[in-house]
Amino acid sequence: MAYMMMNVTAIVPAAGAGTRLGADKPKALVELAGEPLIVHAVRGLRSAGVQQIIVTAPDDSAVQQGFSSSFALAHIDDVVIISGGHTRQESVACGLAAVRASWPETSHVLIHDAARSLTPPAMIRRVLNMLVAGAPAVIPVLPVVDTIKKIVTTTDVDPYTDLVERTMDRNLLRAVQTPQGFQMELIERAHQLSARMNAQEQTAAPDDAALVELMGEPVRTVPGDRRAFKITTPFDLELAQWLMERASSSTKLA
Ligand code: CTP
Ligand code: MG
Repeated sequence: MAYMMMNVTAIVPAAGAGTRLGADKPKALVELAGEPLIVHAVRGLRSAGVQQIIVTAPDDSAVQQGFSSSFALAHIDDVVIISGGHTRQESVACGLAAVRASWPETSHVLIHDAARSLTPPAMIRRVLNMLVAGAPAVIPVLPVVDTIKKIVTTTDVDPYTDLVERTMDRNLLRAVQTPQGFQMELIERAHQLSARMNAQEQTAAPDDAALVELMGEPVRTVPGDRRAFKITTPFDLELAQWLMERASSSTKLA
């Protein structure tokens, strides 16, 4: 693979409501060890060497004010905050337009969920290194530990009463994380081609690599990290809290 110089901008989708977490504020502003989830996510990107960062926030000026004061308190400068869309896919599309406006010289983008707040910088660097090596699209993945069954029907009433169709071959399955990395032109094209899908959650893509796959372009994997799990439910937030406390007490011991 050819090695190349890169100009990287990160897009951090953070415009979701956090319905499953059920907090009294948007998920990105929920605190973990005294700082909002969005601050942890952005700090991880900066630690991995990514300076240019665009955050898509809920379309609410008070909330966006909350984002900028959180960054100021954490001494994180020069983050561009814009309004996201109705779905994650639409929020990323807004982010891509802002990349063109703010840093037109961008050659590659990382797209990273705010909710994956504990992602280790070393994992982010693995994605960057694969882009440097010339891969047009890169995703961090983990092996799947559970057995996965495909069901026949979805009743929408009770998710546990469906009929099983078959068992998937676990060796061929991977759980996918972020940041996902792309050549700028490729991911822009992928989002443009799929723009009609992005208005509703039912048709929108669950991740950005899915849009590249639809174009028939290759997507490469690198090893993910368990700590990059997505904080989705109250259980996940407690787990994240515990991991942060453990990390800070072991630093104190050292
Ligand atoms: N996201 C976004 N714009 C949306 C929806 C989601 O930028 N319209 C972001 C979220 O802020 C989050 C990431 O996409 O950082 C992954 O989404 P998810 O974990 O589902 O977060 P929420 O949509 O906020 O949570 P929920 O689905 O429980 O409401
Ligand atoms: Mg969501």
